[in-house]
Amino acid sequence: MKVSLILAIVSLLSAFSANASLDSSIKAKGKLYFGNIIDGNTINDASVTNLLKSEFGAVTAEYSWKWPRIQPTRGVFNFQESDLVLNWAVANKKLIRGHTFVWHQNIPEWVNAITDKATLTAVIQDHITKVAGRYKGKVYAWDVVNEVFEDNGSFRNSVFYRVLQEDFIDIAFRAARAADPAAKLYINEYGLDAAGPKIDAFLALVGRLKSRGVPIDGLGTQSHLILGMVAGVPAQLQRLANTGLDVAITELDIRIPKPVNDAKLAQQQLEYQSVIEGCLSVSKCVGISMWGVSDRNSWIDTTIPAFSAPLLWDNTFRRKLAFTGVDAIVAN
Ligand code: G3I
Repeated sequence: MKVSLILAIVSLLSAFSANASLDSSIKAKGKLYFGNIIDGNTINDASVTNLLKSEFGAVTAEYSWKWPRIQPTRGVFNFQESDLVLNWAVANKKLIRGHTFVWHQNIPEWVNAITDKATLTAVIQDHITKVAGRYKGKVYAWDVVNEVFEDNGSFRNSVFYRVLQEDFIDIAFRAARAADPAAKLYINEYGLDAAGPKIDAFLALVGRLKSRGVPIDGLGTQSHLILGMVAGVPAQLQRLANTGLDVAITELDIRIPKPVNDAKLAQQQLEYQSVIEGCLSVSKCVGISMWGVSDRNSWIDTTIPAFSAPLLWDNTFRRKLAFTGVDAIVAN
């Protein structure tokens, strides 16, 4: 074949890949989506929504689908914020990951004050039935239960565990399945990125849930990572996949210890590539969601100020080396 023809084909393919999005590229590798977050603080920011539209195929609400925003007082449901996110996702043809029902953080005081099993059971069932029922058929997956373990593998001392022990998880999943049979039901956790007591406890719990016939479909590994500490990710993704359930990276970011410099940004590129390759190499890893588009909007700088620059676009929405690295992995 003539060199000129080969060069023409290569330039055509590279032009095609240059126009491919992160989402279309990862779909071409058999995954379901490359997602990100949206909410009231970004839904009217075209710098964010343009990238969500052009690069991503799924969205998660960063905070407006959580208990205190939807049912701040018992029996009073406010869906104004959550409907905004849902309508944006539907209008822009994005998959929706619902986040989250039962979580020890962000629980209204009226829930934390409950001390008896029957009341808490009814409150969990009612919340999930009302919320999952409202969005029935429109949500691809729900993070039904979030962050149940301490880092040492013991259960968190939440109102849910104090009053119902482990049964709160069964109650939540069964209510979610009944309310929206089409949605994939996930248990979501952070700190599953390296071998240790937390992932061991998580996998043991998953085994018990399956043995009790709890309707669980997927395992969400949040993947809030620290630069220099991502080596264990691929192996732990495989351990999660060995359960036979779907696995998803649900809240990916790689934070850099300040001061941020070019060497750390170059390392961040390589580490994002190894995490993405980890998901690509595990067939049950169905998709990846980032926890933010631009460094400007990341939760990291306000919540963990010793770190910064965790995402793929910088504060001025310029593509970082991290983006180039991720794009190269999914597009080739
Ligand atoms: O919107 C209100 C604003 O009106 C008010 O003035 C302000 C000060 O009180 O609060 C604003 O709401 C905040 C909201 O983010 C929007 O910025 C809430 O207080 C704040 O708690 C909330 O933080 C979110 C946090 O979860 C708790 O829900 C973060 O954005 C979000 O990134 C973070 O995400 C979590 C995941 O859900 C679970 N995994 C860890 C991850 C990071 O913590």
